[in-house]
Amino acid sequence: MLAPLVFTAIDLKGVSYAFGQHRVLHDIDLHIAAGSVVALLGPSGCGKSTLLRLLAGLTPPEAGEIHFGERLVAKAGWSLPPEARDIGMVFQDYALWPHMTVAQNVAFPLKMRNVPRRERDARVVQALTRVGLAEFLDRKPSGLSGGQQQRVALARAIVAEPRVLLFDEPLSNLDSELRESLCLEMAGLLRQLGTTAIYVTHDRREAEILADRIVHLSAGSVAVDRLVTSSSGEFA
Ligand SMILES: Nc1ncnc2c1ncn2[C@@H]1O[C@H](COP(=O)(O)OP(=O)(O)OP(=O)(O)O)[C@@H](O)[C@H]1O
Ligand SMILES: [Mg+2]
Repeated sequence: MLAPLVFTAIDLKGVSYAFGQHRVLHDIDLHIAAGSVVALLGPSGCGKSTLLRLLAGLTPPEAGEIHFGERLVAKAGWSLPPEARDIGMVFQDYALWPHMTVAQNVAFPLKMRNVPRRERDARVVQALTRVGLAEFLDRKPSGLSGGQQQRVALARAIVAEPRVLLFDEPLSNLDSELRESLCLEMAGLLRQLGTTAIYVTHDRREAEILADRIVHLSAGSVAVDRLVTSSSGEFA
């Protein structure tokens, strides 16, 4: 059995990061409430993906600390690896395994957690039903549209009911009509799940629809940090 769903606050304290001599994140302090959806917004190159990679455990910070709830997950030069963090991730490029079927792709996080076969199968169907793809279990990703592939990636991210969901511009490869409809669907799904989520985008409207709070990064620092009001999240 998987552990019951526990929402997790995230704390970044004085987090900095540099690529060699090039400092890209400067002393970031952020408290993200358990169960909230925070959009990270900002122009290209401002450090959004770098911050997400630190949250995912793909790279350690140069300075500062990151906590998931009570747990220290990263400090200067050290980082708990992604598989030990109980997170789900969705990237711009779907990152599905082409040789696996849809069901095998979605089952992967459950396999990693040693969930027994029967429970795994039920959860895969449940996750794919949530994203409207239950009938595509045996397809390969190459037999799906871009939007469908991104739904599979979303199902894979949520199937193990992780404590934290991380998104890096998941809709930016899709055409604008599809982007709008999937954005609204994802907003509904995130509300249902109640999981703490960080959503990177450079699209303000997407951020307003999906998030409770928008953090604007500018050149590696927090420039604006604001709550989203219910009236702001409308596609024009
Ligand atoms: N592997 C790397 N080596 C050196 N510099 C890098 C590397 N990856 C990113 N950078 C630099 O770090 C800065 C932040 O990059 P990052 O990818 O976090 O930006 P971003 O806000 O996600 O941008 P985008 O909206 O274009 O995805 C940029 O100046 C970028 O050029
Ligand atoms: Mg990026």
